[in-house]
Amino acid sequence: MKYLMGIDLGTSGVKVLLIDEKGEVKAKDVQEYPLYTPRSGWAEQNPEEWWQGTVKAIKKVLKGIEPSSIAGIGLSGQMHGLVLLDKGGRVLRPAILWCDQRTVKQCEHITKKIGAERLIKLVSNPALTGFTAGKILWVREQEPEIYKKTAKILLPKDYIRFRLTGSFATEVSDASGTLLLDVKNRRWSDTILKELKIDKNLLPECFESEAVSGKISKKAGITSGLAEGTPVVGGGGDQAASALGCGAVEPGIVSVNLGTSGVVFAYTGSLKLDSKGRIHTFCHAVNGVWHTMGVMLSAGGSLKWFKDNLCVEEIKEARAAGVDPYEIILKKAAKAPIGSGKLIFLPYLAGERTPYADPYARGVFLGLGLDHKKEHLIRAVLEGVSFGLRDSVEIMKTLKVPVRQVRVSGGGAKSKFWLKMLADIFNAEIVTVNAVEGGAYGVALLAGVGAGLYPDIKSICKKVIKKTSSVFPEAANRKIYDAYYKQYKNTYAVLKEEFRSLERLN
Ligand code: XUL
Repeated sequence: MKYLMGIDLGTSGVKVLLIDEKGEVKAKDVQEYPLYTPRSGWAEQNPEEWWQGTVKAIKKVLKGIEPSSIAGIGLSGQMHGLVLLDKGGRVLRPAILWCDQRTVKQCEHITKKIGAERLIKLVSNPALTGFTAGKILWVREQEPEIYKKTAKILLPKDYIRFRLTGSFATEVSDASGTLLLDVKNRRWSDTILKELKIDKNLLPECFESEAVSGKISKKAGITSGLAEGTPVVGGGGDQAASALGCGAVEPGIVSVNLGTSGVVFAYTGSLKLDSKGRIHTFCHAVNGVWHTMGVMLSAGGSLKWFKDNLCVEEIKEARAAGVDPYEIILKKAAKAPIGSGKLIFLPYLAGERTPYADPYARGVFLGLGLDHKKEHLIRAVLEGVSFGLRDSVEIMKTLKVPVRQVRVSGGGAKSKFWLKMLADIFNAEIVTVNAVEGGAYGVALLAGVGAGLYPDIKSICKKVIKKTSSVFPEAANRKIYDAYYKQYKNTYAVLKEEFRSLERLN
């Protein structure tokens, strides 16, 4: 029996997954590591801690497995992060992460220098604070001595590739989120690099996601227990990899990942550009195709905020009953009517990315009355998050991206109540699937393609990923939600400038 390994380097921890060639999960381990916020709005991690966690998890997963039976390894991970190495391959400073907001000025500079419309033409996306290019410019301006020593720039998962194989490589789906990739032609953009004065030699070689980009080195073999020479494929950014992991590999199938952030991801056979840059246009981890993607910063994060700050009783009740607090909280929400008794929640607790790239936006409850109870507030949070996700779906529809079936994964997929709400709000079939290991599963399958076990990623996804539940919209509910969605959109439009003036207060 042959095995495949998927390594997903997340923000809270790294997951290492082992599957057999039939796609069955055989073993997994997760190792956590800290996130550092040396200043408000900054987010950093130590790449050495990523590596230590990865090695620990690989060793645990390998117990009882003959290392040479692993046919291939795939890498997935948090996107957009910046890792800088000197010429000896040593890390020069902590990695600056996807959720770091320090680059507002650098993004303004890029937009002014290249031009907003030209950016969309050249790299298919606007300059957003999360993306890598602004971070490179920030280090060059603020830490010139570090920049001078920089010999290689890597994305987070590609640093793990370097430690495993010694190769400097990335792949098109993750590279799309750097703002340095010509997404249309799937190669680094010489024009952008020249105009931003970034030396192309600093960047790794960019492969298609299923291509073998290196082999386990002797040194990494000794450290991790993996067999020297095991092929490592390109892999994918976490969202493209999760999309593979739930089978979003054909037109009409949209993946929604309901974790801390909320991601709406749609396969597109051709490049679909939003001239306003509201949603991202990136390469898919499937050869020669793309995807559009909307990213909400606080989806499950809004519910978690509500739970942590306002649900002390429910947490106690859950502890006593030995159940998950979310189970109790969501049950409570189901007692409130559609529309939460005329209560609107804006889920912009950490600013927003899609559809408004607005770092100043914040959370709002609009319409609170004496008649409202906690159940109304919880339901309003769920509805607000679902409306925020619908924003991405609506933009996709205007770009003629078909939305036939929505596959939901992540923590939110556990709630039937929320899934039904999404069906009514999106006006689409909402399904869950048997594969629940996300990006790690997606890149393990991709490793099987690179290693020659499977003919191509689409056919293996279709073979092993199956629907487990399905819920359809109800016309009557839809109608009510449509009216509330309109109100939700107006609320942000009216408050937009107020968020800015609030920010200026002491
Ligand atoms: C995608 C994105 C997040 C991060 C962290 O654009 O910002 O998915 O990759 O998960």
